[in-house]
Amino acid sequence: MEVITVANNKGGVGKTMQCYQLACHLASKGHKVLAIDLDSQANLSSTFNLQIQRTLIPEWLIGDVTIEEVMVPSEGKGKLHKNITVIPSSRHMASLSKLLILSEGEIRKEAGRKERLMRMRLEQANGMFDYVIIDTPPMLGDELIMSLVASTKILIPTQAQDYSIDGLEELMDTFEIIKETENPGLEFAIIPSMVNGRRKIERQRLEELSSMFKVTPPIRNLVQMQESISLKKPICAMGKKSRGRQDYTQLWESLNL
Ligand SMILES: Nc1ncnc2c1ncn2[C@@H]1O[C@H](COP(=O)(O)OP(=O)(O)OP(=O)(O)O)[C@@H](O)[C@H]1O
Ligand SMILES: [Mg+2]
Repeated sequence: MEVITVANNKGGVGKTMQCYQLACHLASKGHKVLAIDLDSQANLSSTFNLQIQRTLIPEWLIGDVTIEEVMVPSEGKGKLHKNITVIPSSRHMASLSKLLILSEGEIRKEAGRKERLMRMRLEQANGMFDYVIIDTPPMLGDELIMSLVASTKILIPTQAQDYSIDGLEELMDTFEIIKETENPGLEFAIIPSMVNGRRKIERQRLEELSSMFKVTPPIRNLVQMQESISLKKPICAMGKKSRGRQDYTQLWESLNL
């Protein structure tokens, strides 16, 4: 089972977009996919047509409920949804930090450190899914750290803009620490996201980014991407000539997904 976290501490860079498109792409190829929404904004959940009153993810992570109690079948048009199960989020996700503090003693006994909780809980999903895709909130918090410890790969969508590139260093430091301490096999890929190649400044920043890191083929800024989310129609279900689909086909090929 491959566990892929999509992360960037910067907001609005296309994390949820990447999660949705990746989950649908893998499901369309016949893989069984578990999509986990760890963001209290619950954007990924609503893209899968799932609006829930109260998520039990914090309770699942600390061990009070089972994975079956947090999983929901994906809702959406098209056959691919049969292959997607979602662990949806809600505003209640925000109570995670409080619960982690209150349960500190038990967590120490069971897992040693809170960072290992997601990895432990996902053991319950082994054999049920081929891929787990995790959407994370825009901050370097417990949700992100736990996901990195549990993952085989981290996908980092990044805009080709000054502040986005600066923010990357902080995330890469965290990645290195997790790799050295808890998860030596963790790999990363930086995905230039929402790129507008007609703007000279963005082309320059993209070059700068590529000189600092190995980056994947970019995803362009296209109205079609926004339509994909509002119509809840994944880009892999669009026509072969669709520019969005072409970008994503290249991206997933470059990542062997
Ligand atoms: N390639 C793209 N072209 C055009 N619009 C895009 C593209 N990717 C994402 N968007 C739009 O940009 C906005 C932000 O994207 P998204 O919600 O995926 O970012 P995010 O990183 O998950 O944000 P947050 O940090 O708030 O969770 C959304 O309205 C989305 O539809
Ligand atoms: Mg998001």
